[in-house]
Amino acid sequence: MTYEPEVRERLERDAKEIIGRYPKPRSALLPLLHLVQSVDGHITEHGIEFCAEQLGITAAQVTGVATFYTQYKHAPVGEYHVGVCINTLCAVMGGDQIWAELSEHAGVGHDEATPDGKVSLERIECNAACDFAPVMMVNWEFFDNMTPAKAKQLVDDLRAGKEVLPSRGPNKLSRWKEASRVLAGFPDGLAHEGVQAGPESLVGLKLANERGWTAPSADVDRERPDEPVKAGEVSDPPPNEPGKPIGGDVKPGSQEGRNQ
Ligand code: FES
Repeated sequence: MTYEPEVRERLERDAKEIIGRYPKPRSALLPLLHLVQSVDGHITEHGIEFCAEQLGITAAQVTGVATFYTQYKHAPVGEYHVGVCINTLCAVMGGDQIWAELSEHAGVGHDEATPDGKVSLERIECNAACDFAPVMMVNWEFFDNMTPAKAKQLVDDLRAGKEVLPSRGPNKLSRWKEASRVLAGFPDGLAHEGVQAGPESLVGLKLANERGWTAPSADVDRERPDEPVKAGEVSDPPPNEPGKPIGGDVKPGSQEGRNQ
């Protein structure tokens, strides 16, 4: 199977635009995989061949990348792909329970879709939204502070075609293929819509502003390192000299200067 001529023509036009954003064509592989996923819904054999042809690499190389990242799907997913975070913080806050009840309620397991093709489920790892745990995602939009009951209602509403809005982000929930096109690098213009950083994420910043705290600099030499750093107590790090590593001369193989 291959693409219809008009689909292929559109894909080639989009692929050319994506590839033009990178110094080397092969660097465009990740967005190109999202692009073919935005057409096929998942990574197909002809999608892999298309990427390989456009980038001048082998199908095996494309497959190696496409099978490494979990955002690329190798079987059809639902119009709405629903992720339940089961990573540590969400799990202890109820994510494991949500997954167990939701999976039973929908009658599908990990990376499986409901027979109507409306919804698929995935156990996902940390979404960097632990302050809203337990978190779920639908087509990569956030649903915060979930419970098993809210999760089941969410999936029921999606399957019934009711309007569902994420807790943060745009005032519209894109379908899977639309979201894949955005990930390919074609914005839908919704990135700045709706709630951005939620109040929970801003608590630390608010406290720091109120108390005049700033982040400590790496070279600050303080008598009482456990006490909060006060404004004016830190100095900007020295500018990095061109051609020298950040942090000064570091011996080859040294771990000095790395985050441990
Ligand atoms: S553990 Fe779920 S968002 Fe971090």
